Amino acid sequence: MTYETILVEQRDAVTLITLNRPQALNALNSQVLADLSAAFAAYDADPTQRCAVLTGSGEKAFAAGADIKEMVEKEAADFFLEDFFSGWQTGVVATRKPWIAAVQGFALGGGCELAMMADFIIAGDTAKFGQPEIKLGVAPGMGGSQRLTRAVGKAKAMEMCLTGRMMDAAEAERSGLVSRIVPAADLLEEALKTAATIAAMPPMASMINKEMVNIAFETGLAQGLLTERRLFQILTATQDKKEGMTAFVEKRPGVWKGR
Ligand code: CAA
Repeated sequence: MTYETILVEQRDAVTLITLNRPQALNALNSQVLADLSAAFAAYDADPTQRCAVLTGSGEKAFAAGADIKEMVEKEAADFFLEDFFSGWQTGVVATRKPWIAAVQGFALGGGCELAMMADFIIAGDTAKFGQPEIKLGVAPGMGGSQRLTRAVGKAKAMEMCLTGRMMDAAEAERSGLVSRIVPAADLLEEALKTAATIAAMPPMASMINKEMVNIAFETGLAQGLLTERRLFQILTATQDKKEGMTAFVEKRPGVWKGR
């Protein structure tokens, strides 16, 4: 399958997706959403693929936001009737298998929000995160006010949304927005290496671990603990559970069936 705005390649069990509009700092227009939705659906449906990495082309930006040129002439009724931005939930967030955002340079507005849709973010040391929508007379629309606040807390999220201030990679790591920082030159290699580690895990267990942590992010503690127990109990019915525990007892690596 070919795409207009992204590049997709498979490296063994890892799918690498690259936003490819460097001339527009990888701004996210409707075609990017359509392409990403198709790519994530194909990744989810392909049993040979077990982890994905999303990154941006060019050194300057992961993505500098939703495409302002696409939005400038739209009126409020257009945004409402199209339920603008809802496709990110169904096309990207709904991905059931794990994926990592590898962020270098600017991740602003929708770019920051897209990175936060990932299961976790690995940042190059050039990364800069921000929600500058207020400067355009608007506010985050792809989840930024919610995910950023949950990730870094009210004080930093509020300051960033109200002033448009960017956070550099060090502050983002300190604040819990990214899992770790690596030199920008090593970013892709490190992200792919981490993805390969995840890809080597039993696949149903990786899907369920992802679901559990997301539930902690999205619901209250009592609901989260109950859901965690139920999902754990489902995993105990898999062949990979039997294999994983047997392999441990027999002091050998597990061989996964994916069921
Ligand atoms: N939409 C469309 N085009 C964009 C863009 C965006 N979000 N960000 C950058 N571009 C384009 C620029 O228009 C420019 O194109 P031309 O060469 O055709 O003029 C090209 O990318 C390079 O950008 P700059 O010349 O501006 O590069 P710079 O180095 O001077 O500045 C920047 C870099 C600070 C990131 C600046 O581009 C910028 O401020 N971009 C907009 C950031 C922003 O406001 N993002 C939020 C968008 S709204 C949103 O995302 C809503 C939401 O909640 C989902």
